[in-house]
Amino acid sequence: MKTLTVSTESSSYPIYIGSGIYAQLPSFLSAAGVGTERKLMLITDSHVSAHFAEKVKKILNDAGYQTGISVVPAGEESKNLTQVEQLIGACLEFGLDRQSVILALGGGVVGDLAGFVAATYMRGIPFIQLPTTLLAHDSSVGGKVGVNHPLGKNYIGAFHQPLMVVFDVNVLSTLPRREVRSGYAEVIKHGLIWDRSFVEWLEKHTEALLALEPEKVEEAIYRGCQVKAAVVSQDEKEEGIRAILNYGHTIGHALEAVSEYRSYAHGEAVAIGMAGAARLSTRVLGSPGELVERTEALLQAFQLPVRYQEHWPENQILQAMKRDKKARQGVYTFVLSARIGEVEIVRGVEETQIREVLREIRGGKE
Ligand SMILES: NC(=O)c1ccc[n+]([C@@H]2O[C@H](COP(=O)([O-])OP(=O)(O)OC[C@H]3O[C@@H](n4cnc5c(N)ncnc54)[C@H](O)[C@@H]3O)[C@@H](O)[C@H]2O)c1
Ligand SMILES: [Zn+2]
Repeated sequence: MKTLTVSTESSSYPIYIGSGIYAQLPSFLSAAGVGTERKLMLITDSHVSAHFAEKVKKILNDAGYQTGISVVPAGEESKNLTQVEQLIGACLEFGLDRQSVILALGGGVVGDLAGFVAATYMRGIPFIQLPTTLLAHDSSVGGKVGVNHPLGKNYIGAFHQPLMVVFDVNVLSTLPRREVRSGYAEVIKHGLIWDRSFVEWLEKHTEALLALEPEKVEEAIYRGCQVKAAVVSQDEKEEGIRAILNYGHTIGHALEAVSEYRSYAHGEAVAIGMAGAARLSTRVLGSPGELVERTEALLQAFQLPVRYQEHWPENQILQAMKRDKKARQGVYTFVLSARIGEVEIVRGVEETQIREVLREIRGGKE
């Protein structure tokens, strides 16, 4: 098992990563000062529930914890205020009080939703992240929780750091292949923005990682979490450097928006976005050609797309970028990379340069 600590201004908490470590949940709880007199509520989704919810509940019950389960329908559609209200109802009925703890067992959807319930229930109770997707190595760390509004994604939310993150890599064996590949996009992102040696390691171990070899996956999640933890430790509330975590996301979010979240898994959109960001970096910062070549080669080795389907009009993509909540006053801001493992925030990128890049990354679905 690997452990690391996230230290932010508001709190400090452990991330445990390993195979079969759900069995140790009771000892992690007791190390965090959560005794069996405190009620627990496990929030999960309909896919994850079928595989792991009863197993986790049994581990907790056997250790003497009274544990309820609430299941939401799987999918992004569950990240809404109606679902929040229903979950709060379930917590009230089960008798959760201010000492109780919510456990979020699932991918980023469950983590964001259950985390938001925890942030608001009785003005905030502790919660634990039990991520079950590869992508959730990213979303479970850093304390951003929230739900969607009909007018846009993640418009309702809070910063609420978890009490701990427990990533049992065994859960990934049931994850659909497309989710595995998509999750690796965020792992690769963590390397590209922060850690050149991690990128080299990913290049070397692609096959083992795609085959989900436990030791390698553990290492990849550990190193990805290390980057995320380092960034959020410096800037918990995204007042500055935390924005670099959006590398590849400006174009990525725009592609998700124009395709109404139907054509791309999040990581696929981010992969195309990182190919675009690398190309934009060579234009704006004069980054070496290696950046584009290695970025695209690595993404493709992980079977991720680096070109978007050509029927999405360029103007619509640009419009979507302008609407992105991170765009300020119609000025294009991008996270760009001068070399692999380093990024910076660049304001006022010219529209003509973005258009040129969009033309370059337009094509089939490679
Ligand atoms: N809070 C943050 O910092 C942050 C960061 C990135 C993304 N996010 C959010 O994360 C969400 C996306 O997360 P995601 O990609 O994990 O999606 P997800 O939670 O919807 O999971 C993807 C699919 O896999 C299923 N699944 C999950 N674990 C499984 C397992 N072990 N076995 C079988 N099936 C499993 C889910 O039921 C779902 O159908 C988005 O809502 C995004 O906004 C949040
Ligand atoms: Zn992302």
